[in-house]
Amino acid sequence: MKWVYVEDIGKHVGEEVCIKGWVYHLRSIGKVCFVVVRDGTGIIQCVVTQADSPEAFAAFDSLTLETSCEVTGVVREDRRAPGGYELLTGSLKIVHRSEDYPITPKEHGIAFLMERRHLWLRSSRQNSILRIRAEVMRACRDYLDERGFVEVDAPILTPASVEGTTTLFETDYFGERAFLSQSGQLYNEAACMALGKVYCFGPTFRAEKCKTRRHLTEFWMLEPEIAFANLEDIFQVAEGLVCYIVERVLERHMRELENLGRDIARLEAIESPFVRITYDEALEILAQEGHRIEWGEDFGGDEETILSSAYEKPVFIHRYPVKAKAFYMQPDPENQELAMCTDMLAPEGYGEIIGGSERIHDLGLLERRLEEFGLPREPFEWYLDLRRYGSVPHAGFGLGIERTVAWICGIRHVREAIPFPRLIYRVYP
Ligand code: 4AD
Ligand code: MG
Repeated sequence: MKWVYVEDIGKHVGEEVCIKGWVYHLRSIGKVCFVVVRDGTGIIQCVVTQADSPEAFAAFDSLTLETSCEVTGVVREDRRAPGGYELLTGSLKIVHRSEDYPITPKEHGIAFLMERRHLWLRSSRQNSILRIRAEVMRACRDYLDERGFVEVDAPILTPASVEGTTTLFETDYFGERAFLSQSGQLYNEAACMALGKVYCFGPTFRAEKCKTRRHLTEFWMLEPEIAFANLEDIFQVAEGLVCYIVERVLERHMRELENLGRDIARLEAIESPFVRITYDEALEILAQEGHRIEWGEDFGGDEETILSSAYEKPVFIHRYPVKAKAFYMQPDPENQELAMCTDMLAPEGYGEIIGGSERIHDLGLLERRLEEFGLPREPFEWYLDLRRYGSVPHAGFGLGIERTVAWICGIRHVREAIPFPRLIYRVYP
């Protein structure tokens, strides 16, 4: 019997096929039983009757949720059926009987579900989120690959910090100190001097001791880096990339967006150009909203929520105070207290999804910054070399995948935007 996936079922109307999956829902009306089966690619209603499938009909009462099975039958189009097709069941073979599946159709609390994340992934909502996540990641690669960027992997075990020393995960590396990477950026800088335009894409780690809806301790970041580029180039690549990602999800995953109840018009409105405001202008907007922060402080969740709710589209905030940001940022030639950097905030209160900047390319200035930021010099010697041998202005940024996915899916918390979230109080499952 031909094994087909539910997503392809429409090509087999009138044929007898085999579906392999798990029992998703059970109901019966009089003498007709319905076994809704999911196979990961979709769900299909299998119609079981005494006449066509006597054995399956007899076994119906003993079927349980998430029992794995192989069902054969003839495909029929039916608009009323979930998914639009039915299988007129001939036989239903149980592969493994699931006993007392803990996640029932009733509402469960988030702690209960997080503890069972390995099973929760089977729900249709999580299926939609994970499919969109995969599309976002594919779109990231396609966008950059099509523009001549080379993917160069950065190491995960590193000797130095990139984004401050307070969020480092330290590990013993055969008697030496090593850290889990906070960002592949420094290695990207080396790679772009070798290949011109590069990106790395992988997991990054931050020992974030905060419990917010935007913070994971392990998250994925796409980081492009371009030799000879400046802040203007970063605006353009970042804006183009984000428009492309949204477009691709709209083009290929409307079904999933609808399943998640996403307000699709909000995504359709995402197009170039995005508004650009300076840090100083952002402070004024915050003040108008009755929210005052000291000049020089970086924005936190509250500020980002206010600012990103003020726009329909993502907004760039640029030229933050040097002291609010990382050590490597090039100062603004017109005001040395400002960094040539930008954050992109997603709308609807989602907040920062991108952080990027021009990098310091002058050896002396970079050496001074390491000192000012209290960073040890030795682990950065190789990084300083990049400023000794043909140093050039360059720039890049990092896009956080989970925050981007959370925004596009319209989900409140990043914990659902990654298959197995790592949070301050969670490393299980
Ligand atoms: O702004 P960040 O810290 O920038 C960097 O790491 C740069 N070195 C990137 C670069 O220029 N190559 O982080 C970049 C993005 C943020 O905008 C956010 O989307 C995401 O990474 N991010 C997090 N996502 C989830 N949980 C966290 N704890 C995150 N920290 C940052
Ligand atoms: Mg940032």
